[in-house]
Amino acid sequence: MIKNRQIKAAVIGVGQMGVHHARIYSRMAGVDLVGISDIDEERGNWVASRFNTKYFKDAETLLKKKPDAVTIAVPTSLHREIADMALDYNANLLVEKPLADNTKNAWAIIKKAKSEKRVLMVGHIERFNPAIESLKNLLALGTMGKIKKISTLRVSPYPVRINDAGIILDVSCHDIDLISYLTGSKAKSVSADAKQEFHKYEDEAKISLNFEDGINAVVETSWHYPYKNRRLLLMLEKGAILINFMRQSLTIYNSDGAVSVPVHSGEPLSIELHAFIDTVANDKPSPVNGEDSIYTLDVTSSAVKSYKENKQIKLGNKTTNNTYKSPVLAMI
Ligand SMILES: NC(=O)c1ccc[n+]([C@@H]2O[C@H](COP(=O)([O-])OP(=O)(O)OC[C@H]3O[C@@H](n4cnc5c(N)ncnc54)[C@H](O)[C@@H]3O)[C@@H](O)[C@H]2O)c1
Repeated sequence: MIKNRQIKAAVIGVGQMGVHHARIYSRMAGVDLVGISDIDEERGNWVASRFNTKYFKDAETLLKKKPDAVTIAVPTSLHREIADMALDYNANLLVEKPLADNTKNAWAIIKKAKSEKRVLMVGHIERFNPAIESLKNLLALGTMGKIKKISTLRVSPYPVRINDAGIILDVSCHDIDLISYLTGSKAKSVSADAKQEFHKYEDEAKISLNFEDGINAVVETSWHYPYKNRRLLLMLEKGAILINFMRQSLTIYNSDGAVSVPVHSGEPLSIELHAFIDTVANDKPSPVNGEDSIYTLDVTSSAVKSYKENKQIKLGNKTTNNTYKSPVLAMI
């Protein structure tokens, strides 16, 4: 819900992901998409005309229009530079995941957003998948006992355009964030195996995470598949729960068989962007904050170190302000 005023939104980087941000803002009540920017003129002009907004080749010229809410969806290695510039123009930021290419650059964005008193939200989209919302509510009921194991699989063909990040930084970060979001806890150690067949960095990885309460999680990602598949399996004391992210489905398995639980439908990115605009318009705390991304980046960089040095890496607890909370019933 937006109080009283129209929020001016902008998108910097309208490639594969940013174009969807532009589409959603252009149709959102209470939001005026004041412009988009991309160094690719042909694409920028096409996106602007499609969504009835203005194209700016230079991001700074767009920022001079003083947008309140800016999505940054340029390649990850440019997030810090563009975020820095947007904060100079007092913009509130939604930075696509991962927040930056390393923790040093991520901390720099966080510190500047804090000192400028601007909203900083990170685009960990799966938190806004309606199947995850249903799962979180189910876990809060506590009827299936404690979580024992978690395994995730996220595979696809090779995305040619991603050339500044390996699959661990680019893809595994979705599930690493989600596991902490679901369990309310952070991993204590990580070990990983990875392959590099045709990408500059690793293009297939299997990451094992250990948590203090005995939970083990395995996060598998690959760019070697001819199709997309994204799922999460939770093993609990009294059964198992399977989430299919693409179908937005939730299935419970127990001794009586399998039951499909109805999940309301909704586009995760649209739910995420409504949450961002609500945060900006109503001065709320960011639902996915910078410190969540620091944790994720710490795990992903440790996973890379683990596979390169062939050893388990202990994780220090470097953040205190995460949004990870154990599931609780919304009505209590
Ligand atoms: N949340 C998700 O599920 C998800 C999915 C895909 C990508 N992403 C993230 O979104 C970001 C972009 O990824 P993508 O797949 O859209 O990449 P992409 O290469 O398709 O798009 C990036 C766009 O940024 C433009 N660009 C580059 N430098 C620029 C600059 N200085 N100013 C303005 N525009 C500039 C490029 O021309 C391109 O159009 C990455 O951080 C990626 O990790 C998130």
